This record gives sequence, structure tokens and C-alpha cells, in this order.
Amino acid sequence: MEIVQSNNTELNEIVKTNYPIFKDICGKEPYSLSQYNARIKEKKPVFFVAKENHKLIGNTIAFEDNNSFYIWIIGVSKNKRNKGIGSKLLELNENYARKNGFESVTTKVYNFSTEMKKLLKKRGYTITRIDNAHNELYSANHYCLIFK
Ligand SMILES: CC(C)(COP(=O)(O)OP(=O)(O)OC[C@H]1O[C@@H](n2cnc3c(N)ncnc32)[C@H](O)[C@@H]1OP(=O)(O)O)[C@@H](O)C(=O)NCCC(=O)NCCS
Repeated sequence: MEIVQSNNTELNEIVKTNYPIFKDICGKEPYSLSQYNARIKEKKPVFFVAKENHKLIGNTIAFEDNNSFYIWIIGVSKNKRNKGIGSKLLELNENYARKNGFESVTTKVYNFSTEMKKLLKKRGYTITRIDNAHNELYSANHYCLIFK
């Protein structure tokens, strides 16, 4: 298994990999390729991909947002979880952010993503805001890791 920085030439593969990951948990149709493209169009997206035997098994997409390094997407294929891949992807994003002068990393996690919430707490992220708090599945937790 290797995790490397990538670019938008792998976006099609990322979207395909993420389809079953998000189909299972988010209760609605996962974003299409054109929705990914629309979201990152005005950004300078930073991609990390985890691969095993050249097959994509995990990925993140992040970009600058409000002076912070914002992790928009993180996904690890279901049969590859609990091996530290998600943690390593977060670590690489945090290192990238530090190296590139960001003072914090932020991300938004819907309540349904219990694994991600656990992982962020473990890595020292704190919740800065909750939108839609009354909604059990879709309340949106905004997390932040501030570098000291
Ligand atoms: C959230 C997600 C990315 C985590 O990925 P992951 O690769 O399973 O994450 P990790 O393996 O690093 O961490 C998960 C667990 O494995 C443990 N772990 C870490 N390294 C490990 C290792 N080398 N060996 C065994 N277990 C390990 C972690 O401690 C963690 O355990 P915990 O749940 O008891 O705290 C994954 O669950 C996922 O893709 N979920 C669906 C998509 C999603 O929710 N995305 C976020 C919302 S946008």
C-alpha cells in the first residue's frame, strides 16, 4: 500500500471509488464527476490517494477555504478500513498544510459518519460549529485542528 499526492487526472477514478463508500452512508446519491468538478473549479485542490497494486483504495481532496486548509472529501474503501489508512491520509494533509503555511486544518462531518468523528477527535480536532443540530443524521459538525 502506498499513499501519494496526486492530481485531477485521477479524479474520475476517485469518483468511482467514492461512489460505493458514500452510497452506503449518506442516504442520497453520491456526487457525480461533474459535481466534483464544479466544487473544485475555482480552487487549487490537493489530492492524496492510497493505492494497493495500482488500485485506488482511499483518497482525500482538500483546498484552501477561509485561510484554512479544508479537507472536503475523505474516503477509504470498506474492505480496507481499520488499517490506519484514514489516519495516514489525515496526517499527510496536516503535514501539507503546515508546510504550506496554513495555521489550521478544517473539515465538515455529517453526524452519520461516526468513524470519521472518532478519528478526528483522536487526532485532536475540536468542533467549532454545528449546523442543523436538531437533525440526527445530517447535523453538520465543523472541525478544526489549529497548529501551535
Ligand atoms: C472515516 C474513514 C476515512 C476512516 O478510514 P480508516 O482507514 O478506517 O481509518 P483508520 O484505520 O486510520 O482508523 C480507524 C480505526 O483503525 C484504528 N487503526 C489505526 N491504525 C491502525 C493499524 N495500523 N492497524 C489497526 N487499526 C488501526 C484507529 O485507531 C481507528 O480505531 P478506532 O475506531 O477504534 O479509533 C472511513 O471509515 C471512511 O471512508 N468512511 C466513510 C466515508 C466518510 O465517512 N468520510 C468522512 C465524511 S466526509
